[in-house]
Amino acid sequence: MTDVTSRQGRPGADRAGSVTVRVPAKVNLQLSVGPPRADGYHDVVTVYHAVSLYDEVTVSPAERTSVTVTGEAGVPLGPANLAVRAAGALARAAGLNDAGRVRIEIRKRIPVAAGLAGGSADAAGALVACNELWRAGASQADLAAIGAGLGSDVPFALAGGTAVGLGRGERLTTALAAGSYHWVLAFGAAGLATPDVYAACDRLRAARGLAVPAPALSAQLMAALRSGDPAAVGPLLANDLQPAALSLRPLLRRTLAAGRELGALGAIVSGSGPTCAFLAAGARAARELAVGITGAGVCRAVVQVTGPAPGASLVDGTAP
Ligand code: C5P
Repeated sequence: MTDVTSRQGRPGADRAGSVTVRVPAKVNLQLSVGPPRADGYHDVVTVYHAVSLYDEVTVSPAERTSVTVTGEAGVPLGPANLAVRAAGALARAAGLNDAGRVRIEIRKRIPVAAGLAGGSADAAGALVACNELWRAGASQADLAAIGAGLGSDVPFALAGGTAVGLGRGERLTTALAAGSYHWVLAFGAAGLATPDVYAACDRLRAARGLAVPAPALSAQLMAALRSGDPAAVGPLLANDLQPAALSLRPLLRRTLAAGRELGALGAIVSGSGPTCAFLAAGARAARELAVGITGAGVCRAVVQVTGPAPGASLVDGTAP
């Protein structure tokens, strides 16, 4: 796409002809990573869990494709923007030419390079919003296939809920999970680039000289999720990328320790980090944990969220 313009700006108020989609962040309840593949990716077995921290993506017809972002800083603007790439990919798949130009406004609450799949959320949001705006008629499966080409976590951002991801993470199966879970997320001061964290994971493993087993789904975690008991889930949270993220951001050890000392049922780096996710017994415990972690001064910001949250969904009243 060559006619992309970009700037920071404020999303306009809802206008006739615009479509807004809300898309959740994710945490990984399990992230097991295999050895590097020939294509540079790693096979993973992961349990994705969508949480109630949302980006909003609004699209409207335009002469030129553009993207504006408000809220969290650091989103790449221009053709590298995942929402722009998603709109272009759907326009091509739907055989649209000039009709596939679109103004994209992202209201960003999910921090960038945080291990929360914020970029994938924006891609998923743009796919659903443009599909509606253009009445392109792509099915969920079509959107997931296009999304998988944009990023490993995009199909999950479309689906939401709690799901097992295989392959690069893009092959999804819904997980049977009962109940709802209360989380505290602690945002890091600076982001971590996902490829750097995977590379650090490979280096740490090579230094240990151990063979890397094929990743496998934790049967205990799946049973705990079916029980709906956060006290059973908490100790089973597991992330193979955590040692790598901690090696790149040693101060995250303090963040995790603070949450554990304050009574979190589970404390884990989310995905490639640096966000730390803490599981609480309920809403009140989460509130107390959030206050305690804020007071400990071990992160940039703290939010309370619940999961599972729905995947990319149209915001009522904005259909064209
Ligand atoms: O798929 P996505 O674009 O989000 O991946 C970003 C980077 O993270 C990849 O280029 C790769 O370095 C790393 N990655 C990986 N294995 C995965 C997913 C991501 O090595 N399963």
